[in-house]
Amino acid sequence: MLMRLSTLGLLALANASPDAKRSNYDMFMTGQYTVANCGGNTSLVVHLLDRLYTTLLPVIEDAKSTNTSPAYAAFFKDPSSAPFVSALLTNVTSGVALTPPAPYSLNGAPTLLCVTEPGQFMYKLDGQKDAYAECLANPTATSNYVGFLPPKQYIILCPSFFTSAIVSVPPPNTCLTVNTYINRFHGDGQSFWLYKMWIVLEMITHYYLFASTGLLTITNTNDANKCFRLAAEQSRLNANNYVYYAASVYGSCTDFPAPPTSGRELLEIDIEDPSDNGPDDAGPAAVTFIATDLEIGVEDTTGTP
Ligand SMILES: *[C@@H]1O[C@H](CO)[C@@H](O)[C@H](O)[C@H]1NC(C)=O
Ligand SMILES: *[C@@H]1O[C@H](CO)[C@@H](O)[C@H](O)[C@H]1NC(C)=O
Repeated sequence: MLMRLSTLGLLALANASPDAKRSNYDMFMTGQYTVANCGGNTSLVVHLLDRLYTTLLPVIEDAKSTNTSPAYAAFFKDPSSAPFVSALLTNVTSGVALTPPAPYSLNGAPTLLCVTEPGQFMYKLDGQKDAYAECLANPTATSNYVGFLPPKQYIILCPSFFTSAIVSVPPPNTCLTVNTYINRFHGDGQSFWLYKMWIVLEMITHYYLFASTGLLTITNTNDANKCFRLAAEQSRLNANNYVYYAASVYGSCTDFPAPPTSGRELLEIDIEDPSDNGPDDAGPAAVTFIATDLEIGVEDTTGTP
């Protein structure tokens, strides 16, 4: 009798252990944000959110001021976008919830979720996907915001976000520079992606753009020269424009290409610039696949229409 009981006990344990392992993610709240399953890396993520908060305050002031900066003009063009831009960045500072409460997001606000092994964040998007496997399959991807309808609040941080040599916070006066002859930034702005704080801002901006507009036609343009050339409406819906804008205010940057209206754009067309790796138009990243059937650990949060 005793023997039998203990055998049953062992069996039950064996069945339960994968579930138990996956459902007990550590959670830490900072502001309204949740940092989940990040273990010993939690304090770094919290530090990045803290630094982002103080970094964005002067950026929000700039967007709200009647005399917006050259950085604003460069990356958003039209003053009429300023209320949206400042509202979005204000939402980022506190982590305003635009989604309902969900597993690992008790208040509905964004969750930065570390994936450290297979099976932690599974969804369907053109087949079954595992966020951890997606991270490993794309070595340059350090993070991911997966589009669900209705939008969800999970921002995935890949192992490479922590294991790569990416610096946490940019030193002051980190700026892009302009090649005035061809009226473009030198390079394509990728130097800004060498900082974890900007990567976090880009991911959170994806959440606020997607959750506040619900638009599936949000652009996803990375190259700083292309971001600079987007029309006002596309700029407002492109996450990287927020990063280039914030980074330019943070760096007190003053060097921007001349606006396209100044008649210098003809010159650009004739010059072959190796930094320009494709056509100038944004190619709106129309979301053709929307992820469904999310499972976080053992928590099934299906319920998408
Ligand atoms: C941070 O995350 C990486 C990738 O998941 C992991 O290898 C490392 O052990 C973590 N560091 C700490 C201190 O937990
Ligand atoms: C900012 O948050 C408010 C709720 O406080 C919301 O109504 C608005 O749509 C959000 N705007 C953006 C751009 O995230």
